[in-house]
Amino acid sequence: MQSDKIRVGIVGLGLVSSAHLKGYESHPRAEIVAVCDTDAERVREFAKIHGIAGTYTSYEEMLRHAAIDAVDIATPTHLHAQMTRMAVEAGKHVHCEKPFSRTVAEGLEATEAAAKAGVKLAVGETYVFVTPHVKARELIDQGEIGRPMQIRHRHGAWVAREQPAIPVGPLDRGWRIDPEQSGGGAYPWIFDHAVHFFAAAEYFASDARIAEVYSLASRVDEAGQSGVSAPHDPYAKPEQDIPIVTWTYENSAMQGAWMRAEPLNGKFDFMRGFSTTIIGETSAIEVLGEGGHGLVWNGKQQHLVLHRSGKETVAYRFDESPDDIWQSEISYYSQGHINQVHHFVDSIVNDTQPRYDGAAGTHAVRCTLAAIRSAQESRPIKVSDIEPSYAAYG
Ligand SMILES: NC(=O)c1ccc[n+]([C@@H]2O[C@H](COP(=O)([O-])OP(=O)(O)OC[C@H]3O[C@@H](n4cnc5c(N)ncnc54)[C@H](O)[C@@H]3O)[C@@H](O)[C@H]2O)c1
Repeated sequence: MQSDKIRVGIVGLGLVSSAHLKGYESHPRAEIVAVCDTDAERVREFAKIHGIAGTYTSYEEMLRHAAIDAVDIATPTHLHAQMTRMAVEAGKHVHCEKPFSRTVAEGLEATEAAAKAGVKLAVGETYVFVTPHVKARELIDQGEIGRPMQIRHRHGAWVAREQPAIPVGPLDRGWRIDPEQSGGGAYPWIFDHAVHFFAAAEYFASDARIAEVYSLASRVDEAGQSGVSAPHDPYAKPEQDIPIVTWTYENSAMQGAWMRAEPLNGKFDFMRGFSTTIIGETSAIEVLGEGGHGLVWNGKQQHLVLHRSGKETVAYRFDESPDDIWQSEISYYSQGHINQVHHFVDSIVNDTQPRYDGAAGTHAVRCTLAAIRSAQESRPIKVSDIEPSYAAYG
């Protein structure tokens, strides 16, 4: 008898695969039956620890031989779009990590291939699945702040736990700072992360679309840099820093900004991690995201604070398991990824469109490419002016 579970094969067994694994293992309708990595030792160890029968060192072999319904792509960025195409053409549903592609053309082609094959394609954009963000959106949808008018992202240090609760993967993460493999050219860090910031900026703006981006590039001298960052995440070099990105939406009465200050670039912010203030017509929300810490209201750390004009302020905490990687009460690497993976499995089981799909993932890449071009050319860039073939490298 065929299993009533969605059989999943994971490719890429580094940091983020352990976060995805929890999502599949905790979903009653999913099971991981195959894993693949080019590092044979990593495959053996991962499969042994988690009791997974199918082991592969070749992605093509896994697609050809494993009895799987879906593929989870957790490999470095340069492989995402190509691996997505291969999987959907083999009739598999796909959950692919962000950034979905390195160019708009690559992302659109993979998205079209999935539509043609009639399979689900979800992009792993955890910022629209982490619980405090989802609650903020729910409050916005209920009209608690009026129309969202301004999105202000703040980015302090991501402080890693002394003992991570999940394996952080290989230490040889050269791809993250490689111009071509990261996709970001001279700005690999921003390419890897800005898709999150743009996705959250549209999510909090009730899905209003970002139309124009203006970045500020900065040169931090070596003396100003402490180099403190997450051990698993090599950061940009001083000359590659984009500490501030601003944008307007299609309705230019709405705008947003992302600003980073952390020891890495020689600046101190007492609030840690990612947090956002969402300014509405009548009220405002402050909310913590990835690695967030330090949002205090009435002497107590909160995870979301709703400031209402003429009414009492309401504070929320989400006491999920703390983060697996960061010193933060926000359960990003755990519950955020679980929420995201469950949503993907549910979209297959219930035959519904994933909330964050290939088109959304490609649009976030386009905004990010506009941010990089803006830093290079010191002028605002319209997102629609990013040609499908434009790459930040080469
Ligand atoms: N959504 C999030 O919060 C989040 C968090 C971390 C990483 N990510 C994204 O996930 C992706 C993976 O990041 P990571 O930090 O886990 O990377 P990693 O370097 O820890 O792991 C990547 C793994 O892929 C394997 N690999 C490389 N080429 C392969 C191939 N051709 N076939 C099979 N396996 C191959 C490597 O051996 C390695 O084990 C990146 O795109 C990153 O941006 C997302």
